Amino acid sequence: MKTKYWVWIAGVLVAGAAAAAAWVIQPAIAPIQPPAPNDFDSASVARGARVVAQGDCMVCHTAAGGAPYAGGLPLRTPFGTIYTTNITPDAATGIGNWSLAAFTRALRHGVSRDGHLLYPAFPYIHYTRMSSADITDAYAYLMTRTPVVARAPDNDLLLPLRFRPLLAGWNLLYLHPGPVADDPRQSAEWNRGRYLVDGAGHCASCHSTLDPIGGERSPAFSGGNIDGWDAPALTALLQTPKPWNREQLALYLRHGWSPEHGAAAGPMGPVAHSLSQVPEADTNAIATYIMSLQKPAAPATATVTTSAPAPAPASAMVQQGAALFAGACAGCHSAEAPMMSTRGRPSLALSSAVTGERPDNLIQVVLNGIPWSHTGQSTFMPPFAAALTDQQIASIAAYVRADIGKRPAWPEVERRVNKIRKENQQ
Ligand code: HEC
Ligand code: HEC
Ligand code: HEC
Repeated sequence: MKTKYWVWIAGVLVAGAAAAAAWVIQPAIAPIQPPAPNDFDSASVARGARVVAQGDCMVCHTAAGGAPYAGGLPLRTPFGTIYTTNITPDAATGIGNWSLAAFTRALRHGVSRDGHLLYPAFPYIHYTRMSSADITDAYAYLMTRTPVVARAPDNDLLLPLRFRPLLAGWNLLYLHPGPVADDPRQSAEWNRGRYLVDGAGHCASCHSTLDPIGGERSPAFSGGNIDGWDAPALTALLQTPKPWNREQLALYLRHGWSPEHGAAAGPMGPVAHSLSQVPEADTNAIATYIMSLQKPAAPATATVTTSAPAPAPASAMVQQGAALFAGACAGCHSAEAPMMSTRGRPSLALSSAVTGERPDNLIQVVLNGIPWSHTGQSTFMPPFAAALTDQQIASIAAYVRADIGKRPAWPEVERRVNKIRKENQQ
């Protein structure tokens, strides 16, 4: 990504200059006296809890070990580190003195109460699709949380980007404000699904490829990368070794796990955790909409793993990997492992971490494991970062890829492990 900085900067400078005038007219919205919690209708607060869960607001606005919604989580982008802000109702450091109008403008236009432009690491290009009713309920919910005094650390961004007015140029290109009308040719459930996926759910912000200036490329959902994890394409769910269906997808989104596809690991874990708190009708609607985006399934032969070419004779690396796998992994992942039977654990051959084009998710899963989940302990996998060297992880990957995945080897896995390990430590 580094080589593309210049394109990014040049593009933003040009567009930014053109649109600087537009920025100048973003006025401050007057502060209000912080409302009391009982100024809000309790039904609106309850609905707002679900909207905030659909939008994953807590995931980004809570630092590790920090108070909910008090901000301070570092988001690492190719352009530097941006810290999330405090969205608890503290008047001095949070949004306590924000009116509904100021809150709505932030979500729809990416403008802070005092008029400064917000970085698109805050996915307002999606939140702009939310209905006024949902935004009002989210406001009621957040304004009735416990106020916390917390100021976000200063951002650490490439120099030109510290100048926020440049974002006006970015917005000209990527922000299309306001909700979109329902498509009358589609069912109510499909429209609800599209509303949630494109709006609060902001699925495309991780599952789309980004262009050099951080905008989502079309077609949407063709697969992206986030925090060193690959977010697989959401339009190729029929091309996986075990094609997804609507029920499996709804289950995966709700429970962070499906018997045919395994666990939602890495950045998808918190997304699924949030979605476990929304009505089941909503996760079903998301699944319906996502399934409607699928490219037709590949001819049957291509999806059956047995039709894969006969594997080449095992290299020394694959043999070492097999031995390490037997010791470190097989207790949970071999066909005979006792844990396999407790919940019908899916074969690793079905995991996109094993069949994907790049080894990154497999490496991340082995380094970090999978945390205890909200749905019970059965998705726990321990981290191996301290137990295995880069070379050992590379050989386990070679074995899993060749013998279990029956796919051609990934190139240069050891270098990748080394790089990902370093990035994770930053
Ligand atoms: C992917 C991470 C992410 C998610 C998810 C997210 N935010 Fe944010 N949000 C940010 C970042 C980063 C900023 C600060 C941007 C800046 O300083 O320019 C921010 C800023 C804000 C602000 C402006 C605060 C201020 O003081 O200017 C509001 C309001 C806000 N977010 C509300 C929400 C709500 C409501 C949700 C859920 C619907 C949400 N955010 C979800 C990352 C996120
Ligand atoms: C914060 C980034 C992020 C957001 C937001 C996000 N995802 Fe994901 N998603 C990921 C990552 C990373 C993975 C890969 C994790 C894994 O394989 O365990 C993933 C995996 C998935 C998978 C499994 C794909 C496969 O082939 O294994 C599905 C399905 C999915 N996401 C759907 C969604 C939907 C629907 C939404 C919106 C409601 C969404 N995601 C929002 C990051 C995200
Ligand atoms: C204590 C049990 C345990 C051990 C040991 C273990 N795993 Fe896992 N692993 C899990 C669980 C649980 C999951 C979640 C998916 C599931 O339910 O099967 C998982 C998932 C995975 C996934 C799929 C991740 C995804 O995104 O879908 C991969 C790949 C994986 N493990 C590789 C390994 C490797 C390689 C080792 C050895 C270095 C290993 N595991 C050791 C329990 C374990």
